[in-house]
Order: sequence, then structure tokens, then C-alpha cells
Amino acid sequence: MAEGRIWRISGPLVIAEGMKGSMVYEVVEVGEERLIGEIIGLEGEKAIIQVYEDTTGLTLGEPVRGTGNPLVAELGPGLVGSIFDGIQRPLSELWHRVGDFVTRGVKLNALPRDRKWHFVPREGLDRVGPGDVLGHVEETPLVRHLIMVPPGVSGRLVRLAEEGDYTVEEEIARVEADGREEPITMLQRWPVRTPRPHARKLDPEIPMITGTRIIDYLFPIAKGGKGAIPGGFGTGKTVMQHQLTKWSDTQIKVYVGCGERGNEMADALHEYRRLQDPETGRPLLERSVFIANTSNMPVAARETSVFLGVTIGEYYRDMGYHALVVADSTSRWAEAMREISGRLEEMPGEEGFPAYLGSRLAEFYERAGRVVCQGSPEREGSLTITGAVSPPGADFSEPVTQNTLRYVRTLWALDVNLANQRHFPAISWLTSYSLYSEIVSGWWAENVGPEFPEFRAEAMRILQEEAELSEIVRLVGMEALPERDKLTLEIARMIREDFLRQNAFSEFDSYSPPRKTHLLMKLIMAFYRRAKELVEEGVPVSEIVKLPVRYRIARAKETDFREFDALYEELMREMEEEFSRLGGGS
Ligand SMILES: Nc1ncnc2c1ncn2[C@@H]1O[C@H](COP(=O)(O)OP(=O)(O)O)[C@@H](O)[C@H]1O
Ligand SMILES: [Mg+2]
Repeated sequence: MAEGRIWRISGPLVIAEGMKGSMVYEVVEVGEERLIGEIIGLEGEKAIIQVYEDTTGLTLGEPVRGTGNPLVAELGPGLVGSIFDGIQRPLSELWHRVGDFVTRGVKLNALPRDRKWHFVPREGLDRVGPGDVLGHVEETPLVRHLIMVPPGVSGRLVRLAEEGDYTVEEEIARVEADGREEPITMLQRWPVRTPRPHARKLDPEIPMITGTRIIDYLFPIAKGGKGAIPGGFGTGKTVMQHQLTKWSDTQIKVYVGCGERGNEMADALHEYRRLQDPETGRPLLERSVFIANTSNMPVAARETSVFLGVTIGEYYRDMGYHALVVADSTSRWAEAMREISGRLEEMPGEEGFPAYLGSRLAEFYERAGRVVCQGSPEREGSLTITGAVSPPGADFSEPVTQNTLRYVRTLWALDVNLANQRHFPAISWLTSYSLYSEIVSGWWAENVGPEFPEFRAEAMRILQEEAELSEIVRLVGMEALPERDKLTLEIARMIREDFLRQNAFSEFDSYSPPRKTHLLMKLIMAFYRRAKELVEEGVPVSEIVKLPVRYRIARAKETDFREFDALYEELMREMEEEFSRLGGGS
């Protein structure tokens, strides 16, 4: 391994000389304290290193040692429920061992070495290959962790451990190939910058249900999809990401707090502790992994935090789970790239961001997907990725937002005006889009309601029309509009206020499952249809909007979804009566 000396130090960046034989992306240990760094460039015998720990106090001439390995994640039982920093040191351990301040050069295993897991072997195995399931452990009451043959290993299974308790370092199997025997433990290592292999990619055509109506109905994301949430300060990016981790129908949630304030992350964790899995009522922590690289932590580790997150997500995908990785915020990661690139005096691209900004974002988002996993038994898994983007001044034309849009297929654009009006989620229905809406439409029609495609198109049309009509209203006033258009405006208001608006902090409305979402839209559409008939008969819109059922529809979303069917029936009856009365009287 190369052994050189520090030649120059510039913030998180160190240049070492005498590093002949090193590789780009090799992990190195920097200085007497052996800080963790990664080589990001080589010039002759000089290595350019980004250091993932605070470099204050390093001096020229201190040793730099190569390790010969890329940055790897430790994968195995014990990930779920953990909180890691950007280089996968368990944060609770770190605080425990070294206090709040001195955290440099501390080497900690990501996964506990002393803990034993109850391993149950699979029966009837003979020859095995990558991804084949050897057995399982119950990692938490919510997650059965499959122990798989690591990528690249195949041969005859010469030994499989009996059912019993083992640590992640004890051998649980042995595979023989070409006369060589390879021991297998429950611990795998995988380079974070390399996508994990799968057997086959599948089209993402099943929706990831989020429980947020504007997403599920108007701008859906598929399992295995990729989405971005750009928005100015205070528009609801963090709340949105929490909602996705809390409620989406995914079995593994990886939350990457990247460069955001430490107290926000602490709040998030605190709140998370109280949350329950909607299906089982057990703590949601039992399906979650946290990675925290907050604004007070070294900037270079923001990059490792996002790649660590997707690597963990892929690992659970490989077990046949639906995993979700959320990153808050990718802008802070991009800013770290800009800082490092600036110190390298690279030719800057737009607004000082490096020219490779786009390709780096692509390497992140392109790890999303729905796949047939490697190995037997046959299984499918998915990894969905959503990233928050915080453009300065909420200006979406800036490079991070624009580059992100090239790689994601869903955009939930948060609107400052909506946030100011306290219309949450502040997802703009005029500028957001989803390239998954066509393909998930079939799922809704089949599983929830056959009217879905029609309702969705109708709702979108009404909202568009409202935007056009409000221009006219601004010029000539509401009174000049024909009754038909007044009705369109009223229905648009119902869609916005009674359907799209959804308080994340409301007990019964935070989560709206597909059936409730659809029935709520059905109420509004039924109201629209009946109202249209009456308007044609000459009943003024001002009379129609006074109907009591109109107010009951407005409050309907606050009803528990378990009681929603009954409410729906009741309101449909009431609507019928009130409309008949109004129609009869005209
Ligand atoms: N879906 C929501 N429901 C209710 N309130 C929300 C919602 N989204 C955002 N808010 C309000 O807006 C505030 C700021 O949201 P936050 O997610 O922290 O913004 P950002 O991360 O974009 O800066 C929250 O504290 C909350 O009061
Ligand atoms: Mg935030």
C-alpha cells in the first residue's frame, strides 16, 4: 500500500505526495490520527484526498496511508434501527464513546460485533450462487433479514450452520469452488459507489402509495421510481420527506439527513421514536435506518452519506423488499461538491458547481429501480429514491434543480405562495408532473375504482381551467363570468381545499389510503355532476354552494379512513336529497 506524506491542506481537501500505486476512490488514512479520506484524483505521485473528518490541526508532512480498498458499507443484521454518520459510524456509539466534540479518527464498526442473531438455515441447498438465500434472522419484529450468498461467490455448499445464535463475524456457511473454500458470514461489504447487481430490471408500474392525496392521485410515483421535491425555505420539503418515510407502503425506510441543521435532524429522530407502523402498530424505527450528516459535520461526508443510503436500500431490495431512500437535501451535497471543486481550482461550471454535478446526481438517482433479485428463491424488490432540493431564493432555474430534473421522473414542485397561504402540502398542481401517471393508472382502476383515470383527468382539467379563468376574473371580475365558469371555479376550490390540502399533523388526515382518497374525489365529482345539471336548468351557482352537504364534504377528510365508507354513503344520500329539492324548486 502506498505510504506518503501530507503536502498541502485546504479545508476538507488534502494533497499527499509519494502516493505511487494508489487508485482513485481508494480509502486512505490521513495523519497521525488516521482520519478517513478518499482519493478523488491522482496527479503523478500526488493524491488528492477528500477527508471525511475535521482536518483542523493536521500538519504538513504527517503520514498518509493507502488501504487498497474503496469505501465500503457493512451490510448485515443490525442496520435497521441504527443511526449512522456519513461513513457509517454508529452515532449513538460515537457520542457514547467520545462525547459530543472529539469524533476524529475514531474507528467504529458499523454493525455490532458482540450481538448474536438467531439464524435459521434454509433447507435443501446444494450448489449456490450470488443472492441465494442461505437462511434468515429476525432482525426486528418487522424485518426478516435474509442471509444471502454475497455477489461474486458461487460453488458447492460444503457447510451450512445449524439453527442457532451467531454474531455477524462467525461463519455460517462455506462454499467450495475450484478447490478453494470460501467462508460466508452474515456480514457483507460492498463499495458504496458501485450499484449492487440484480438479475433483471422490471418496469416500475406499481404505485408507491404515500397517503398524500396530491401525490397518489395527481402526481404518483412508482415503486422503484425517482422523484424530486424542490422548494424554497419553509415550503415543506422536510415535512414531505417525513410523510413519505412514515406512510409509504415500503418495508424499509432509509432517511439521509444531508447537510441540514443538526437540531432539525434531532427533532426528526425524536418524533420518529413515537411513530407507529400503520400496519402493525409497532415502532416505525423497526423498519428504518438513519444516516445523519448534518451541517456541523464534515462537508465531504455528505457525498458518502447519500451513497451509503442507496447501498443500504439496495441491500434490502435484494432481499425482496420495497425500500425507500429519502435525501434531505441534495443541494447541501451539491454545495459540498462545489466547495471541494473550488479548492481544487477546477474549471467551474454553472454558478461555480463542478462540471460533473449532473453525472454525480445521475449516479445517485439511477440506483432506483424495480428488479428481479439475484438468486433463489425468486423474488422481486424495489428501491425508490426521493431527493429534496433547496434552490436559493426558490429559483428553480439554478443548476442543482435543473440537473436533477434530467434524472427524476416525478417532480413535486413546492410553491412559495401556497406555503405562505398555509396551503399544505404546497405542491403546485400547475408545475408538478409525473411520468408514472399513465402506468400506475391501471393499478388504481383495477384495485381502487374504475373511474380513476376519468376523475384524475377531470380534476386536472378543472384546475387548469381555474388558472385560466382567474386571469379573466382579475380583468373583468367574477360577475362577468357565465354560470358554467363560476361552477368550474367552485369545483376547483373544492378540489384544492377539500381534497389536495392535507395537514400532515392532523390525526385522521395525515394519512389518506387509496380508498379514502378515491371516495373523497368521488364525492366531489358527484357534486360537480349534479351541480352541472342544475346550472343547465338555470339554478344559480350561488344557491348550489349554499347546500349543507357542500360543507360536510369540506370536513369529510378529517374522518378516520375506517369510518369513511359509511360517511361516503351518508353524504351521497344527503347530496341526492338536497339536489332534488333544489332542482324541484326551480
Ligand atoms: N404537509 C404539511 N402539513 C402541515 N404543515 C406543513 C406541511 N408541510 C409544511 N408544513 C409547515 O411548514 C413548516 C416548514 O416546513 P419544512 O418541511 O420544515 O420546510 P423546508 O424543509 O422546506 O424548509 C413546517 O414546520 C409546518 O409548520
Ligand atoms: Mg427542511
